Amino acid sequence: MAILVTGGAGYIGSHTVVELQNSGYDVVVLDNLSNSSEKALDRVSKITGKPVKFYKADILDREALDQIFDKEDIDSCIHFAGLKAVGESVVKPWEYYENNIAGTLTLVDVMRKHGVKNIIFSSSATVYGDPAQIPITEECPKGQCTNPYGWTKSMLEQVLTDIQKADPEWNVMLLRYFNPIGAHKSGTIGENPNGIPNNLMPYITQVAVGKLKELGVFGNDYDTPDGTGVRDYIHVVDLAKGHVKALKKIGENPGLAIYNLGTGKGYSVLDIVKNFEAATGVKIPYVIKPRRAGDIATCYCDASKAAKELGWTAENGIREMCEDSWRWQSNNPNGYED
Ligand code: NAD
Ligand code: WQD
Repeated sequence: MAILVTGGAGYIGSHTVVELQNSGYDVVVLDNLSNSSEKALDRVSKITGKPVKFYKADILDREALDQIFDKEDIDSCIHFAGLKAVGESVVKPWEYYENNIAGTLTLVDVMRKHGVKNIIFSSSATVYGDPAQIPITEECPKGQCTNPYGWTKSMLEQVLTDIQKADPEWNVMLLRYFNPIGAHKSGTIGENPNGIPNNLMPYITQVAVGKLKELGVFGNDYDTPDGTGVRDYIHVVDLAKGHVKALKKIGENPGLAIYNLGTGKGYSVLDIVKNFEAATGVKIPYVIKPRRAGDIATCYCDASKAAKELGWTAENGIREMCEDSWRWQSNNPNGYED
């Protein structure tokens, strides 16, 4: 029995393949490499000492999916494949709805036709919109998303929920990630954004490595302790381990289950800058800029449901997150490019 990992060459996917293989699972990766490199999988293989079975395919390509499900003995799917750049989604909404929604509908249809009814879906804290309560529990109502990317996650949660309701043979795990950062301890796999990074940590590491001049801090007039935005940063290896726990939970036939995957701690932008400097000894020059459209002041979770029901708690603190992000970036200033 194998686990199909869509988007397995990407940032979170590659780290999850490591943890799955280390836990003894047979893994099949499917990725169209639109935002990743096959080299990530070579490096995964070096870390685990096991080959990674890889199909270069698109989740929109029904025929290719059919062939993979015919050939492989797939039991469950961890579904990471999707486009994820918030700003780009505002400019190209059709591409985001097509890729993320039509792609997932195709995948799920092929899954059910092959009798595979276990899916772990990469959702996001973005579905809470401007959260009704802090810390955010899973019971917190979903909110208004500020961009098409966020809506794809919110809508897909609904689609998968309805599919599970109509056919209780399905197990649907909706995992709402907070802000993944960090990299594998080996420093050989990590986040590899195209062009200028949108997210905080890759921007900081690119300033640190000298590719960017200074960090722009988007607003210092929020209602937070130092005025800058507060987020729940989570080490990507902890996040990856959360997927292994979710897969174990599927063995208990949970039906529909929703979990926040975060640490439950909030750090401001300036906290991250200070912690990065302390962990690495590298100074990060920054300037205060206006607020970024669509940003909220504070977002961190109550992580107790995953602790109680999955037996999962994040182990790495902010220091490890900063050290490991930096090890990856400094060893690979150009990501997977030579
Ligand atoms: P990523 O871009 O590194 O990984 C996504 C992978 O999916 C890439 O390798 C890409 O090539 C592949 N892909 C995209 N469209 C595809 C398609 N049509 N067919 C096949 N493969 C396709 O992103 P990531 O940070 O690893 O995110 C993984 C998942 O987690 C995404 O669904 C993302 O929306 C979600 N998520 C990410 C974050 C975050 O901050 N990184 C937070 C919450 C949720
Ligand atoms: C973090 C904080 C910024 C960059 C996004 C998506 C979300 C999820 C995770 C996928 C904020 C500030 C950032 C910079 C800054 N992804 N910042 N200067 O916005 O919390 O979440 O990624 O699902 O959906 O929206 O993450 O890393 O972009 O920002 O000051 O150059 O850092 O304003 O307070 P965000 P982020």
